Amino acid sequence: MKHRIGFIGYGNMGGGYHWEVAHDRDDVCDDLQPVAVFDFRESQRKLAEERGMKAYDNFEDFIKHDDMDIVVVACGNNFHCEMTCRALEAGKHVICEKPVAMTLEEFDLMVETAKRCGKHFFVHQNRRMDTDFLVVKKAYEDGRLGKISDIESNFKGGYMGGWRLLEDHGGGILYDWGVHLIDQIVYLIDRPVVDVRAYLRSETVSQVDDRSIVEFTFDNGVHARVVVSGHFLVDAPRFAVYGDKGALWVDGIYKGKGMLRESIIEGEKTKTVTAYSSEGAYEREIVEYDLGLRRVEFPDDGTTFDQDWAVLYKNMLDTIDGNDEMIVKYDQVRTVLSIILAAFESSKTGKTITL
Ligand SMILES: NC(=O)c1ccc[n+]([C@@H]2O[C@H](COP(=O)([O-])OP(=O)(O)OC[C@H]3O[C@@H](n4cnc5c(N)ncnc54)[C@H](O)[C@@H]3O)[C@@H](O)[C@H]2O)c1
Repeated sequence: MKHRIGFIGYGNMGGGYHWEVAHDRDDVCDDLQPVAVFDFRESQRKLAEERGMKAYDNFEDFIKHDDMDIVVVACGNNFHCEMTCRALEAGKHVICEKPVAMTLEEFDLMVETAKRCGKHFFVHQNRRMDTDFLVVKKAYEDGRLGKISDIESNFKGGYMGGWRLLEDHGGGILYDWGVHLIDQIVYLIDRPVVDVRAYLRSETVSQVDDRSIVEFTFDNGVHARVVVSGHFLVDAPRFAVYGDKGALWVDGIYKGKGMLRESIIEGEKTKTVTAYSSEGAYEREIVEYDLGLRRVEFPDDGTTFDQDWAVLYKNMLDTIDGNDEMIVKYDQVRTVLSIILAAFESSKTGKTITL
């Protein structure tokens, strides 16, 4: 089916990635045509016009643009809810950038508005397709780590400038990058989260967090630790994941390979240890595992990963056309937002927050 897409916010993401995928990726969305832009900045409207689109400086005129059936919401975070709901009310499908909203009430309103208006509402959690994460996902799904107990996820060097420095615009590194890192783990484990503890730092900026540590626990005991930073560039692995059969280390962003250390139980052996009674020392026999350790580059079955965020665009069009269902589920998005909001509260109060 033919679709026509418009952009609310035509900055780095709207005029960059979203434009490119809609305009250039015929392999994914042959029938998608970019047609209109609403942006407050004249420079961005001029760019849109140079690219053959109609540009508007106000929502009312933009939303009436002929035949447009999908709207990308890629403006600042504090406007996501308002712009999404207004576009849905006007009968458009919406794909909204992360972080989806500033409060749970806003997110619930967006979902409820989409249902009431009979339109689709997608959340753009594109870093589920990052190659570093796909390595972890494959090791998990292949059962190579056994029962996972701990996941560490690190990212450093996120951009901190412009509206990202403003608290009332939904700025800060946790909303900007943390949301991706948390989403990846919530998507992977796909279970309820029971508690959150966080330490949010403002070390080089005045209003928002620029180095944030968020720990959360799932109801099956899996513990996650996310460290995300806009500065102080200390090296840490992108991922370290620990299970009862092995541990995985992915050492850089976009790395499509990791190092897997597997503990292989090769048998049992009887060992003698010195134990103590009230009478003194004595020898006691115990049965211990005979452990072999194997270290392999992972994936070790020839699998390679292509990082392609446009998977979400294909999913959006197929879902609208009735041929697929959303990859990014509302319960996962809600859990991620709950973790972020609990992280703000935990950091302020110094307490662990129960969800
Ligand atoms: N998924 C990703 O990988 C990713 C990457 C970067 C940014 N983002 C998200 O995309 C959104 C935009 O980020 P950006 O880096 O492009 O910011 P940006 O500042 O480069 O662009 C935002 C644009 O929106 C316009 N704008 C602001 N408020 C508006 C409003 N109410 N109505 C119309 N236009 C408005 C601004 O004039 C600006 O041109 C943010 O939500 C951000 O979190 C996502």
